[in-house]
Amino acid sequence: MAVTASLPSTFDDWIGQFGDWQRKVGFDTAWLGDYKFEAKYDFENVKPTIEFGDYAGKPKWERPLQIPHQNIRDALLHLITVQGDTEFASVEQQRHLLTSAPTEYDRKSALRIMAEEQRHGWQMCHLLMTYFGKEGAIEAKKLLERNANDGNRLLGSFNEPTKNWLDFFVFTQFVDRDGKYQLKMLSHSAFKPLAASMGPMLKEESFHLGTGSNGLRRIVKQDTIPLPVLQRAFNRWIPTAFDLFGKDGSTSSEWAYVWGIKGRYDEDTNTSPVTDKRMLNAYNRDLYRQEIVREVEIINKSVAPGKPKLIVPDGKFHRAIGEHVGQEWTVDGQPWKGKGSYADYLGSVLPTKEDDAVLAECFKQEWIAAKAA
Ligand SMILES: [Fe+2]
Ligand SMILES: [Fe+2]
Repeated sequence: MAVTASLPSTFDDWIGQFGDWQRKVGFDTAWLGDYKFEAKYDFENVKPTIEFGDYAGKPKWERPLQIPHQNIRDALLHLITVQGDTEFASVEQQRHLLTSAPTEYDRKSALRIMAEEQRHGWQMCHLLMTYFGKEGAIEAKKLLERNANDGNRLLGSFNEPTKNWLDFFVFTQFVDRDGKYQLKMLSHSAFKPLAASMGPMLKEESFHLGTGSNGLRRIVKQDTIPLPVLQRAFNRWIPTAFDLFGKDGSTSSEWAYVWGIKGRYDEDTNTSPVTDKRMLNAYNRDLYRQEIVREVEIINKSVAPGKPKLIVPDGKFHRAIGEHVGQEWTVDGQPWKGKGSYADYLGSVLPTKEDDAVLAECFKQEWIAAKAA
C-alpha cells in the first residue's frame, strides 16, 4: 500500500500513515506482541529554566507561541525532523536481519531495538504534529516517505546498508552511541516538550548501545571472524558516526547554543563557559571519540594474546563532512604516502568483497560467543 499523499491533519491521521510505512518496510506488527507505541514525556526531570545561551534563566518554553523568534522555531523544527529521520531509517536498515539472527536472544534484542526506534520516530512526530502546525505535519509525513534503502535519509550513516549481523553490532555500538550524544544534547533544550522527550528515549537507547558493545565482545571472544575484517567494519562505520556531529566550524550549532535549544553533551556537569561556540560540534565529537576509544579498549581485553588490537580510526580518516573531506589520511591519522593510488589504499582498509565471502563462511559456524548470564 502506498503512503497516503494527503497531509495528516491530526496525530491519528499520522498514525494511519505510520501503519502504511510499517507495511512498506515489511515490519509485521504481530512481532511486537503487546508492545504499544506511545509518546512518553518526562516533564518532572526537566529543568524549569533555560540552561544556557541568551535566554538563560528565563522559564523554558512550553508552547510554540512562547518561543521568542520564528528562526528559533524553525531551528527546533529542523532538529526534531533530523532526529526523527534517523529513527525510522535504522529500522529500514535493520529489518532484513531478523531472519538471520545468530540466536533467539539476538533476534529478540534486534526486534526490541527496532520497536524502540519506531517509538522514537513516533515521539518526534508527536512533537511535530502537536506543536508545529502545518509545517510540522509536512515534516512528519516526509519522515515516512524518505527511505534508507533509497539512500535519501538525511544523514550519511542512515543510508549505509547494514549488510549483516557484524554490521548490526558495529552500528549499534558506534552509531546508536552517537544517538545517545544527540539525545543528551537535546535533553538540555529550552523547548520543554523536546527536553522532556529525551529521558525516556535515553533509557531505551542505552539498551541499543549495550547490545552493540556486548555483541562485539562476544564476537571477539569467539574468535571466528578475523580481526582485520572487524577492523575494516570499524573503519567503514566510525567515520560516518564522526560525521553525524556536523561541521567543525558550524553556525547552526552556534545558534542552537545561543538560543538555548541544544547544549553540550556534558552541559549538566561542565561548569566552564563555552569559549568558541562555533566549535561545539568538534567539542562534542571529541567527547564521543574518547568514549569509543574506551569502549574499544574494553573489547580489546577479549582479543587473544599476540593478535593485533582493534583501533578507532583517526578523526581525519575517510570523512564525508568537514575540513578533511577529500584528503588522503591513513586509518591511524598519518598523511598517506604509499605506492599506488589512495583509492587502492582505501580498498584495502575498508570492507572488501573477500570480507563478505569470509563472513558468509563464518556465519555458517559458531561465530559469536553465548551471552554471559
Ligand atoms: Fe533511537
Ligand atoms: Fe537506538
